[in-house]
Amino acid sequence: MTQSSDIQACVFDAYGTLFDVHSAVTKHGQQLGASAETLSQIWRNRQLEYTWLRSLMHEHADFWQVTQEALAYACDCLDIQDEALQYNLMQAYLSLDCYPEVPMVLEQVRKQGLKTAILSNGTLGMLQSAVKQAEIGHSIDHILSVEAVKVYKPDPRVYRLAVEQLNCPKESICFLSSNGWDVAGAAAFGFQVVWVNRSGQRFERLPHGPRLELPSLRELPQALQESFSE
Ligand code: LAC
Repeated sequence: MTQSSDIQACVFDAYGTLFDVHSAVTKHGQQLGASAETLSQIWRNRQLEYTWLRSLMHEHADFWQVTQEALAYACDCLDIQDEALQYNLMQAYLSLDCYPEVPMVLEQVRKQGLKTAILSNGTLGMLQSAVKQAEIGHSIDHILSVEAVKVYKPDPRVYRLAVEQLNCPKESICFLSSNGWDVAGAAAFGFQVVWVNRSGQRFERLPHGPRLELPSLRELPQALQESFSE
């Protein structure tokens, strides 16, 4: 299959886009009982809020620490004092499930002649571990972490990492994220952005939106053929 569009690379957000962040809590669902879903939501929300706040405060700490601190906060909220459980939840973050279509889609994108990369808040260690566990390493050309610039998305310096490392113009990069705010940040930077709206989220009221919205990554190879040609 040849690629007729001017897109040269697909750059994927990691958490929520390739990997299911809620699968960490799902693995320990029995122990958490009725609190499982609420814990997972508070954990994820605080994790993201802490990245934005730390960037604004110029107080960078890596995503492993931020994720740990967000988990401690979420456990406090629900009065969970089990340190072994917190340890296990953090370990589970290193082997999050990838969404079922991901391995096949990455391979197809590669066959279409495009480079593939992950661009994420995660540390290289966290990302390499998740990629290895999901057995998708052979389909990913670059793993890029914000640790190279020590600031979080949606700071434009993060998106610029992809341009520098992939050595292609931002207009020729298709960036994919399930996170509406990441979509806005990447579109503001100048990527061609696809919103992978897995859970039917409402449209964000932020400047800059996606070029395309898909319900999952399954539709990506065809969209690259149809929506990005010419
Ligand atoms: C990431 C977060 C935004 O992977 O999910 O960068």
